[in-house]
Amino acid sequence: MTKGIFISLEGPDGAGKTTVLNKLLPALEKRHSAGVVTTREPGGVMIAEAIREVILDVNNTAMDSKTELLLYIAARRQHLVERVLPNLESGKLVLVDRFIDSSVAYQGAGRGLSSEDIKWLNTYATDGLEPDLTLLLDIESELGLSRIAQNSDREVNRLDLEKIDMHQRVRQGYLELAQENPERIKIIDASNDIETVVSEALKAIEAVLKPSKDA
Ligand code: TYD
Repeated sequence: MTKGIFISLEGPDGAGKTTVLNKLLPALEKRHSAGVVTTREPGGVMIAEAIREVILDVNNTAMDSKTELLLYIAARRQHLVERVLPNLESGKLVLVDRFIDSSVAYQGAGRGLSSEDIKWLNTYATDGLEPDLTLLLDIESELGLSRIAQNSDREVNRLDLEKIDMHQRVRQGYLELAQENPERIKIIDASNDIETVVSEALKAIEAVLKPSKDA
């Protein structure tokens, strides 16, 4: 068993994950003295960042959906072994921007691959490790996409070029996952203002920061 606390942040594009993550960080550092590590998928370590470049390259329009899935899974495995597990072993709180649920929502609900296959591949890559808590920042697709359009600093990736119905399927996929995993996944309404979203997120995190786990 790992000693730290593992939290994943999930949601459709434009939900504001990155902003929320940055705002959560100082508050979490105060609460978890053993330390907090924030990281992201796909990427977070050198090999996984190299895989990320291949997946998100706007020129790779010929990429097959199963190839794409396997690349995400490969990036997940490497990131888990190199970054997540060692930090959990040393008692840290690891907050990861996207994890297993992204594959089910995007490659399953979004692209139409079998969610059973994806869940099996996730288990294979993670040896069955699941987050203690997953925050799902839920947002209506139109609003999420309009936020992306307004944010000119954000890199435009291959997936941003997808049509609205793909984004809607992804959102539905996430909501179904939340229904299937009510203990682990907490839905947060990301259409609210940032302060409300962050305070809701903190409330959910407090519940898993049990005193015995806090080194
Ligand atoms: P990124 O620029 O990190 O987007 P965001 O800031 O919204 O997280 O790009 C990650 C993209 O990869 C995002 O569109 C979701 C997608 N993705 C999948 O399709 N499957 C996965 O398993 C993961 C981890 C990400």
